[in-house]
Amino acid sequence: MIQENSVNFGNNIDLLKNVKDCTIQCIYIDPPFFTQKDHSLYSEKHKKEMKFSDKWINLSDYLKYIKNLLSECKKKLKDDGTIFLHCDKTASHHIRVLLDEVFGADKFINEIIWTYRRWSNSRDGLLNSHQNIYFYAKSKSFKFNKLFTDYSPTTNIDQILQSRERNENGKSIYQTDTNGNVILGKEKKGVPLSDVWEIPYLNPKAKERVGYPTQKPYLLLKQIIEISTSEGDIVLDPCCGSGTTCVTAKLLNRKYIGIDISNEAIDISKSRLDNPVVTSSALLKNGKEDYYNQDIYKVPYLEILNAIPVQRNKGIDGFLKEYFNNKPVAVKIQGHNQTLQSAVSELLNSTQSKKCEKLILIKTNDSTELSLFNNEIKDDRLTIVDSFSLIASKLLENDKSNSLRTSVCSG
Ligand SMILES: C[S@@+](CC[C@H](N)C(=O)[O-])C[C@H]1O[C@@H](n2cnc3c(N)ncnc32)[C@H](O)[C@@H]1O
Repeated sequence: MIQENSVNFGNNIDLLKNVKDCTIQCIYIDPPFFTQKDHSLYSEKHKKEMKFSDKWINLSDYLKYIKNLLSECKKKLKDDGTIFLHCDKTASHHIRVLLDEVFGADKFINEIIWTYRRWSNSRDGLLNSHQNIYFYAKSKSFKFNKLFTDYSPTTNIDQILQSRERNENGKSIYQTDTNGNVILGKEKKGVPLSDVWEIPYLNPKAKERVGYPTQKPYLLLKQIIEISTSEGDIVLDPCCGSGTTCVTAKLLNRKYIGIDISNEAIDISKSRLDNPVVTSSALLKNGKEDYYNQDIYKVPYLEILNAIPVQRNKGIDGFLKEYFNNKPVAVKIQGHNQTLQSAVSELLNSTQSKKCEKLILIKTNDSTELSLFNNEIKDDRLTIVDSFSLIASKLLENDKSNSLRTSVCSG
């Protein structure tokens, strides 16, 4: 029999027979997606290529495998257990039908959309930036822990806190006491977690990345395990790959069972379990706004210039949407307390390796030191433009000294 807290090498459908029936609280499956490709990635960290095959005779061969796997998994779930099947547009429409067949259409709970930002070009149609996770239960009465997220900035919190009731016409109205004062509702924990999850894809430099092809982020598994299990429950992943599910379960004080047909996957899972590393996400910690607008006052300048903002780059704040000589045009906005000299050096340093033939620096403040420095700028690519507020303050200065001159002459 397969032990709790273990990762096991072998074919999942065979090995699942060695897992005790009705013992598993949650199963997460991230199987091959029917891409008809071999997936491989060279891991710098482990100095070797890691791969798994996603080639099948045909679609029905693939669907037969998935259906057998699902049937075997169902036997292992506790009566209040749940299953999450991860797939993408390639076969999601077929997989949902299989899940209905094995678990029953009435056991469908949600289709979770995992969405992330991608910058690659889409060949035809819209850029694909999501994957699907089907969430089914073994029975109608299943374990589910409610998670809450923050209200959006546009929510009128004041209204939300007031209790509501239906009037004689069935219309929802605010409840008031006999003196006409509003009655406060129950304490609010936030907005219940929706079925669209925005969690960043693991970037090539993410600390938790081990170099296994299609490795999923810890934060995705954390959310799945938190909504479906309690501490001490067993989580099973029959296609565990680099062991993300097992590592997450361990960190959340759950028990785990991992299975994979690749020896490399088992080795990497074991080493991750010995030394778990997770990446903290600035996006999730600080919110989307913070992530995108670190220097919020620069955004209007970029909008006026029709430029795309660049994040986390000291020297470049944006690129114009329009190219110059088929090359991007980098834009920098002089910081509030920054000298022009330092703004120019930052822009030039950051564009050294970029093939820009035009650089624009928006000057936001003026001083004697700057005008001296202006004469020394030698880079032909650079154009320094005064911001609107600087132009306005120069105009006002001019008008003031003119009227002073007039009043001295007439005085
Ligand atoms: C998409 S990857 C899983 C990635 C994993 N979620 C992670 O975060 O690293 C799919 C995995 O399924 C495994 N696999 C494919 N067929 C299998 C089978 N019959 N039995 C066990 N594992 C299998 C592959 O070796 C591969 O590691």
